[in-house]
Amino acid sequence: MNSNDCSEVVKIAKDYYDSTDADEFYHSIWGGEDIHIGLYNSDDEPISDASRRTVEKMCSLLTKLNKDSVILDVGAGYGGAARFIAEKYSAQVTCLNLSEKENERNREKNRDKGLDHLIKVVDGNFESLPFDDASFDIVWSEDAILHSGNKEGVFNEIYRVMKKGGEFIFTDPMQADNCPAGVLKPVLERIHLDAFGSFCFYRDYASKIGLEEVNIIDLSEMLIRHYSRVKVELENKCNEIVCSIEYMDRMVKGLNHWVEAGKNEFLKWGILHFRKV
Ligand SMILES: C[S@@+](CC[C@H](N)C(=O)[O-])C[C@H]1O[C@@H](n2cnc3c(N)ncnc32)[C@H](O)[C@@H]1O
Repeated sequence: MNSNDCSEVVKIAKDYYDSTDADEFYHSIWGGEDIHIGLYNSDDEPISDASRRTVEKMCSLLTKLNKDSVILDVGAGYGGAARFIAEKYSAQVTCLNLSEKENERNREKNRDKGLDHLIKVVDGNFESLPFDDASFDIVWSEDAILHSGNKEGVFNEIYRVMKKGGEFIFTDPMQADNCPAGVLKPVLERIHLDAFGSFCFYRDYASKIGLEEVNIIDLSEMLIRHYSRVKVELENKCNEIVCSIEYMDRMVKGLNHWVEAGKNEFLKWGILHFRKV
């Protein structure tokens, strides 16, 4: 992937996820499989179990998921969802992701599990998808679209590569529909953006381009639980993690901001599910 073709925000996301610090953090704390918000049954359960529950829940909502489905995961991280889907449904999954470091780990894990015949890992930017029109039955994404400064463009690209009748399901940290100006500045600073999407923003834009709403589930309380849980885990494992002190300091401050913004109901999270009509 030629990073000269990317926007500044995309380059920042790539540098972040390719960094040794981020790789160490997401591997040690999050478990190196699913690096998204979890669905918690209790406050002290392992992050990896709760995060896997999000994948299971999303799968249960899809009507087109079976062995013949062709799926695209945009912003696929280490590919945990792809391995779950390939293993459980024998479906073919393409993981598109910016971070070459994560992609290398993804390929290795797929080989180790004997799933590389079902999962393809592609280095790329979801603002410009390197796929033909109408090539996927399902487009999937977890907690990745927030990183784009051009979310309409990402939706246009996803719409383009979806087959007619295909499904688009994703999760994303979002701002509240009526979020007061400026209150999310400390949260947004970390990802170098001016705004998140919101339930209204995604719903309206989806409808504008011909994506019919199937289901929108507000699960915002999980965002608070999740980032609080990550904070505790970080404290518990602080002696084992080999991240730089600067990274850890920024992470602790960042987590506090995310939890606080969630508690103030400025930050939201949920599952959004659409169909291409
Ligand atoms: C919080 S992680 C989530 C990873 C994965 N979806 C999961 O749930 O395990 C966000 C991911 O988005 C990817 N990402 C961010 N911006 C991207 C872009 N413009 N194109 C492709 N991937 C991107 C990052 O590389 C990272 O893997």
